[in-house]
Amino acid sequence: MARITASVYTSHVPAIGAALDMGKTTEPYWVPLFAGYEPSKQWMKDNTPDVIFLVYNDHATAFSLEMIPTFAIGTAASFTPADEGYGPRPVPQVIGHPELAAHIAQSVIQDDFDLTIVNKMDVDHGLTVPLNLMCGSPGPDDAWPCPVIPFAVNVVQYPVPSGRRCFALGQAIRRAVESYDEPLKVQIWGTGGMSHQLQGPRAGLINREWDNAWLDKLIADPKACSETPHIDYVREAGSEGIELVMWLIARGAMADVAGGAKPTVRHRFYHVPASNTAVGHLILENN
Ligand code: DHB
Ligand code: FE
Repeated sequence: MARITASVYTSHVPAIGAALDMGKTTEPYWVPLFAGYEPSKQWMKDNTPDVIFLVYNDHATAFSLEMIPTFAIGTAASFTPADEGYGPRPVPQVIGHPELAAHIAQSVIQDDFDLTIVNKMDVDHGLTVPLNLMCGSPGPDDAWPCPVIPFAVNVVQYPVPSGRRCFALGQAIRRAVESYDEPLKVQIWGTGGMSHQLQGPRAGLINREWDNAWLDKLIADPKACSETPHIDYVREAGSEGIELVMWLIARGAMADVAGGAKPTVRHRFYHVPASNTAVGHLILENN
């Protein structure tokens, strides 16, 4: 049977992608940020999974306001990095895992979560920046270390799903993975956050204290963390801080939530600023 070996959580700031693509990683502004991911890249090399189930949000790239799925699973054989206005990022094509994705869709939908099936989709910085942070910078003709199943969540246009629903969905994804009849090692990643607000009078809002308390709770008491109401994210972590509900999908898929052992915290990192955003990062390993 397939199993979830670990969960990874990270912000997905587009300026990080731009710093990588324009060779700015050694500039003093960026050095501490990339240093925080050095242990993660090593961990990733030592613990390369067979598949990454990557929870992220599309930023009006693949889905415009014409069509807004709440939860969308990418079932295609491959996904092209999107052109977000400056040309596509110079990163590899994302290779999918149609068989496992179709199985997860089947299992999760029968488990009462309504997913949108997406057979063709470009993927934006929400998905590619986390891959760079964890896997380094392979060129456009190279490859990411393993197949990726993109799982897009609407956190852009209200109404967006509650943290509670995301947490329950993570549990359904774990059941789906564990009922797949092949011994695959699967990592689940939650991306976006942490505190940031990109517009209006509060633009630039960063809340270090709230972010870190939320991380503590995500690790120690994920169920309580999942009860965080929307208004708390928006008030405390800024309007785009709502992206954090996606981390609860990954956390819900960990073994302890289903009565298993507590995960081990392999790495934790927090850094301000990256553009207008606080960057949070966590690696949790199942035991
Ligand atoms: C920005 C955009 C994002 O999607 C995000 O998660 C953080 C920052 C930005 O435009 O700076
Ligand atoms: Fe974002």
